[in-house]
Amino acid sequence: PRTPMIAPSLLSADFARLADEVARVADADWLHVDVMDAHFVPNLTLGRPVVEAIQAVSPVPLDCHLMIEAPERWAPGYAEVGARNVTVHAEACTGDPRAVARDIRAAGALAGLAIKPGTPLEEYEEVLRDFDTLLVMTVEPGFGGQAFMADVLPKVRRARELVDTGHLRLLVEVDGGINADTIEQAAEAGADVFVAGSAVYGADDPARAIAALRAQATG
Ligand code: DX5
Ligand code: ZN
Repeated sequence: PRTPMIAPSLLSADFARLADEVARVADADWLHVDVMDAHFVPNLTLGRPVVEAIQAVSPVPLDCHLMIEAPERWAPGYAEVGARNVTVHAEACTGDPRAVARDIRAAGALAGLAIKPGTPLEEYEEVLRDFDTLLVMTVEPGFGGQAFMADVLPKVRRARELVDTGHLRLLVEVDGGINADTIEQAAEAGADVFVAGSAVYGADDPARAIAALRAQATG
């Protein structure tokens, strides 16, 4: 069986106390950092200088989810400051996403491709050969605390099948609305990495929430 990875999303943390909030999820597998530019999505969060500051205090590898336009221009910079995985949106790439993957990897990180709920997976099955992670959005990107979209799960199942049959080699990640009520469906569909914002940072005890989610995803 697969070992599920839990990636708390810092988007639901208290931005005025980032170092403390990072320390509260020290037993997570990855720390998910949502970078938004107010153009690709209608929200603005933080950029490379803040990611660099988080990286300096984080005991957990960073998983940077770039919800930005022109990812080819900015993505390698997040690898340069030490992120473990840097994910760009397929819909934001103007050229071949494989070039972005190459640049992210050359800068020392794993390369991820994200697709919004309405974006078909088939279009990207070929380019995914050059990526290390696939992030299937289970909400419209932009905000935490939204409801999980179960109708996206066929894409997770399809990605799982492509990996299990040896056509692709990547981690399948789900992001949006993952909590105690939804994580089992996502695990059953075949996800490897589970991003959870409000379910972790909204809990009284984030460490316990992470352990509970991990146990649920293990089945
Ligand atoms: C939304 C972000 C998510 C968000 C998830 O655009 O990509 O990572 O933080 O938050 P929850 O888990 O609350 O849906
Ligand atoms: Zn995210």
